[in-house]
Amino acid sequence: MIAPGTLLARVSEIADPGALVVKIDAADVWGSVLLTRCSGEVAAFHNRCSHAGYPLQRANGRVLVQHGRYIVCGAHGASYELRTGACAGGPCNGAALTPIAIAIEDGEIRAV
Ligand code: FES
Repeated sequence: MIAPGTLLARVSEIADPGALVVKIDAADVWGSVLLTRCSGEVAAFHNRCSHAGYPLQRANGRVLVQHGRYIVCGAHGASYELRTGACAGGPCNGAALTPIAIAIEDGEIRAV
């Protein structure tokens, strides 16, 4: 659970198209949020793959973005649409990432 009003990032920190993992709980290795940006649209998801629940980033902390439309899970290669979090291919095809409600004001992305 993310406290409403929690600052997740600034829009300018996310490449377009791109994705960014934000740690929200230093004590919880799984406590992170995936932010995506595509054509100016920002979305937020729990950073857990629908396949086996691993975080989506690679060992270097970065999230692979392919063809400007998809993120690719660093564990087994599932791909998800940047805008919707829908799985577009891989071992969890047809599933989706769990969205997080956000609000953007003055370039700041906050949980609601
Ligand atoms: S945990 Fe993501 S593809 Fe398996």
